[in-house]
Parts: sequence; structure tokens; C-alpha cells
Amino acid sequence: MPLVPMTEFLPKAKAGKFAVGQFNVNNLEFAQAIAEAAAEERSPVIFGVSEGALKYMGLEYTVAIAEAAAKTCGVPVALHLDHGSSFEIAMKCIRAGFSSVMFDGSHYPFEENVRLTKEIVKAAHAMGVSVEGELGTIGGVEDDISVDDAEAALAKPDEAIRFWEETGVDALAIAVGTAHGMYKGEVRIRFDIIEAVASKIPVPIVLHGGSGVPDDMIRESIRLGVGKINVNTENQIACTNKIRELLGNDPKLYDPRKYLGPAREAMKQVVREKIRLFGSNNQA
Ligand code: 13P
Repeated sequence: MPLVPMTEFLPKAKAGKFAVGQFNVNNLEFAQAIAEAAAEERSPVIFGVSEGALKYMGLEYTVAIAEAAAKTCGVPVALHLDHGSSFEIAMKCIRAGFSSVMFDGSHYPFEENVRLTKEIVKAAHAMGVSVEGELGTIGGVEDDISVDDAEAALAKPDEAIRFWEETGVDALAIAVGTAHGMYKGEVRIRFDIIEAVASKIPVPIVLHGGSGVPDDMIRESIRLGVGKINVNTENQIACTNKIRELLGNDPKLYDPRKYLGPAREAMKQVVREKIRLFGSNNQA
């Protein structure tokens, strides 16, 4: 199957009250773990690639790996730019074969975010590519971008609804209290904001910072209208913990396949559990 835009499965997710996972891809083993888990669980899946990961893997390798995964796994796969910072990077990704892009204009004033997002929606939709927009600031550290949790401004429901009406994005990320990375304290999600926005717009809300959010909060978010959930850190931790354990136990180990293979297996387990929690298994 070729790569598909998120519109292939997100409307069904919102209507059926499940969420599709965006699992960030940082190298080949991440892509394989995600694709294998999705195939075995018969789940649609989103490969999220940040600009930092893109720089690390290279644009051509990224697209080739995602296309190979989509071709072999037999379930719908979207290749999605995560937190795209400009029109130029979004177009570069689309030209290279991405089937979906996020434009994160959340640090711009509202009207400017709307204007820039609209430009991307117009160009992307003309090419059959889906678009995610963002409103409010999600805390934590992702790649080199750090946002102080206290500073993270939550989305205002009225603005979020107007943002969707004016831009026509296919999925809307709003800041509701989650943060990128693992949580230091208690996770607090503003379910009232999710509900107020999700009940007024036809597209799903996107929950960023899915790592470390308790299962019951994930279920409640989905019930209220979240249809896409992003997970990166939990896979990074599963991968690195396994490598650390294997190298620590055997100083003579030098074949990367002997530690990257088990690391891939550990990530596959994380993805499988998230897919089941999100309820997207058997929805491909
Ligand atoms: P976590 O790393 O907290 O899972 O967040 C991932 C994310 O939201 C990517 O956009």
C-alpha cells in the first residue's frame, strides 16, 4: 500500500471513538518496530518525523524507509512531519513524498498562525496531503525546542474553534496540559477544553506528549474527542534501556544487531500496548 494521508483514517477514528497513534521515527529500528506492531494489531499508524529526526536520518532515507514499511506491513501508514516550522519545510517534505504535515505556528500571534496555516492547508490539500495545526503551547523539550511547563499557554476553546473554521486543518493539536518528555509531577489534563473544542469541530483533537500519561486519562481523552495521540519518549526509553542493559551485562558485545534487535523488540511491545490502549487495533 502507498503512504496515505491521515484523512484515510482520522474521520473513522473520531466517529468510532478510538485514536490513531503517531509514533515518532528516529531511525530504522523505530520504523520497523512501529510497522510490525501496527501490522500485527491490524491498526492504521502514523510515522511522526520531527525536523531534528529528519536532519538525523536524511529526507530521502526517511521517505524510503516509510515507503518500504507501508509496502510491507499491509495497514494504512501516514508519513507525517511533526512540528513543521515553516511553509518551506512542509513543501520540501511533501515534494519528497510525505503524505501528511503538521504546521506548528503556535508561537505566532493567533491571526498570523491562522494565515500561515491556511497557506499550508491550501497547498497541501491540492496535493492530497493532510494537515495538522497547533494552538496553545505544549510544554517540555522536543529536539532542541524547550518550553517551560509553567509558560505553556493552554488553548482557549473559542479560539481553537475559530482556528479550525478559518484554516480547515484535518486534525488540531491544542495545549491541554500534556508535555513532551516524561512528567516530573502529576499529569493534569484539561478535559473540559478537549470536550468544549471537540464537540464543536468535526476533526479530531491531537494529544501531544502521550508518553507517561496514565491509561485512564488517555481513555477519557479519546472518549471526549481526541483521535490522534503522539508518542516518542516511551519508545526512546524502551530502546535505550534495553541497549544499556545488554551492553552493561556483556562488555564483549560488539555486533550492533545483537543489541539493536532486542531494542527494536522492546519498542514493538510499547507500540503494541499503546495501539490497544488507543483502541485502533483491528481498525485498519
Ligand atoms: P512524548 O515524547 O512525550 O511522547 O511526545 C511526543 C510528541 O508529542 C511528538 O510530537
